[in-house]
Amino acid sequence: MPPTQMPSILDPQLRRALVERMRYYNEMGIYDFYQRGPASFEPPEGPRDEVRADASSLIPTLQTELREEMPARKSAVVATVAEENVFEIVTPKPEYGTSDPVAALKLIREDLGDCTRCKLHKQGRKQIVFGVGNPNAELMFVGEGPGADEDAQGEPFVGRAGQLLNNMIKAMGLQREDVYIANIVKCRPPGNRTPERDECDTCSPFLMRQIAVIKPKVIVALGAVAAKNLLAINAPMSELRGRWYDFKPAGVRSDPTWAGARLAVTYHPAFLLRDPRQKGEAWKDLQRVMKYLDLKPPQKTE
Ligand code: URA
Repeated sequence: MPPTQMPSILDPQLRRALVERMRYYNEMGIYDFYQRGPASFEPPEGPRDEVRADASSLIPTLQTELREEMPARKSAVVATVAEENVFEIVTPKPEYGTSDPVAALKLIREDLGDCTRCKLHKQGRKQIVFGVGNPNAELMFVGEGPGADEDAQGEPFVGRAGQLLNNMIKAMGLQREDVYIANIVKCRPPGNRTPERDECDTCSPFLMRQIAVIKPKVIVALGAVAAKNLLAINAPMSELRGRWYDFKPAGVRSDPTWAGARLAVTYHPAFLLRDPRQKGEAWKDLQRVMKYLDLKPPQKTE
């Protein structure tokens, strides 16, 4: 198939598996590859309560498929190693030179620059909303993308949804400054539309690098967009919530000191503002996180 007919989107889960595969080869000292043609796979079914979101569980599948050159399945997104530059993904990053998370996050921010990598940069964004909070946070929240308030102030979750998120954080016995808050995309989508696939795929490597620096124990995905992008799972909230996922950021070097984060999914605060009856359900999600992190709700003052 000529390159112009190649599909332009690489399934994130396939990309993760490919990245791991490249790393595996690189560690063995193999750097030269040739293209065999399209490889595809469907994610394996995970057990209901515990799903691995890192690519390692998929490597055997990928290895088999690469070796046997299985024909593409109908429902899978098909791409080749050559189509997307996975070598770029495993290239050393500026922050690898420091073990100080503050300095590392600064380097990632500098690398991001005045980003024009996706179309959001020319669709009315005022500024990039990088992320905010404790660079050593045990708990990280990931939302969808900046809204008007965030775009104006350059900080995630500062509008009405942000006020509710602050209250959720307080109810967990923490302060906003204790956690780290970021979004799947760092630029405001026009009219607060849902960020598109190419925008998420372009921006999320920077989020992955932030996560790899912060090394949180728990990531809470706020809403379906965050959850689906982080986990590369397409499922309704009813299925995404209520279980733990093991999460490792894709496209970054593996870290022997950090086994990855546990990831929980809960409702987006903006959704809870629209449907406050679901707050009890969100609280259940947060309580599971609190139990794992041994957090106690704040003492009530008279
Ligand atoms: N909604 C989000 O998903 N992120 C923000 O930063 C603000 C609102």
